[in-house]
Amino acid sequence: MRAYDIIEKKKNGKELKAEEIKFFIDKYTSGEMPDYQASALLMAICINGMTKFETSELTRCMLESGETIDLSDISGVKVDKHSTGGVGDKTTLIVSPIVAACGVPVAKMSGRGLGHTGGTIDKLESIPGFRASLEREEFFETIESVGFSITSQSGNIVPADKKLYALRDVTATVESIPLIASSIMSKKLAVGSDCILLDVKTGSGAFMKSFDSSIELAKTMVDIGKSNNKETIAVITNMDIPLGNAVGNSLEVIEACEILKGRGDGSLRKVCIYLAANMLYLAGKGSLSRCKEMASNSIKDGSGFYKLREMVKKQGGDTDVLENYEKFPKAKVSHLVISDRDGYINRIDAEKCGIATVVLGAGREKKDSEIDYSAGVVFNKSIGEFVKKDDVIAAVYSSNEDRCAKGKQILLSGIDISPLKLPVSPLIQARVTDEGIEKFI
Ligand code: URA
Repeated sequence: MRAYDIIEKKKNGKELKAEEIKFFIDKYTSGEMPDYQASALLMAICINGMTKFETSELTRCMLESGETIDLSDISGVKVDKHSTGGVGDKTTLIVSPIVAACGVPVAKMSGRGLGHTGGTIDKLESIPGFRASLEREEFFETIESVGFSITSQSGNIVPADKKLYALRDVTATVESIPLIASSIMSKKLAVGSDCILLDVKTGSGAFMKSFDSSIELAKTMVDIGKSNNKETIAVITNMDIPLGNAVGNSLEVIEACEILKGRGDGSLRKVCIYLAANMLYLAGKGSLSRCKEMASNSIKDGSGFYKLREMVKKQGGDTDVLENYEKFPKAKVSHLVISDRDGYINRIDAEKCGIATVVLGAGREKKDSEIDYSAGVVFNKSIGEFVKKDDVIAAVYSSNEDRCAKGKQILLSGIDISPLKLPVSPLIQARVTDEGIEKFI
């Protein structure tokens, strides 16, 4: 078998055989296939797509490229959650403790920021002392004693994805349904939870920009889950605008704490309760409306926040910062983003906001860039709100004057204010199960 022939076959839009897909994954993971051949094949897949059979084989081969985790020693139905990536998406920090507080164990392996999107591990590492890289025993022990744990992905879990993702990131081959579906589902299957909830982001700040392509991605992943005997639900949520009021690592931890303390942004709370309720539903805790009630109650009675604090403490983090936000290291420079006119805020472009946040220092411009945990954006105003000239829309934070000014300009270029109020896309747009699609728009 030759890589050249596989590339040519996919270039001509033909279906690859199982052994050809296996050859690609095995040879690329072991370093025997060079980046230029893997890139060419990825681009051919991006352009010509993959059949259901090919996507399922690709997922299987990626899963088999490394170790898997057996969670069967942990009692209860374990539920995992994964977001396809967004701006201001701190839902894992809120949803996991809520679900754990309702008695359902959550074993979560999360990633770091990627491109303009943030990552849960970077957010958690903004908490002084927090250890995100746990050995298997400690990960299990934390789930057993606290009810949930969040750890970074070990290098031995789906090593094929580690290599392929880094290559896709720099070859414009991220936005492909079979590639995203196999990347996410191979990791979810490797971690071994019983059920999976997927949060598929749609809109300008998401990898899937259109509603239809988001539905197709959701269906593809739900099918993969089903064929691997994992009950899987996908919800489609809006990522035209950043989620919540804060974007940036410690700023998002603060916002997550506020939600768990029963305060903060209503849209963010609504999405989190919906995601948590679907996880509880998957774990067999009752009807979706009953599960929503349980999730809301764990915010009202403080048990969700208590769980977050317990997990942070167990993983070495300073829990004082969760109570007294002033103890987080502060940004050296800040600028206000001021409205230059009266009118309605009709656009806060999520992708622009994500790029601005990276420029401010909250994300990585290069693979090895150091993160500034205090950098980011805090919005005072929301989409659809009326503002007057000179009103403060947001504040931007950075460690350096140049970055602060540049980030502010990028953020401003994604904000539209006009006299006429335009409709805002709904927050929760669809729910996809193996029984069908419920659309809410
Ligand atoms: N998240 C992943 O883990 N993989 C992708 O390909 C896209 C988002």
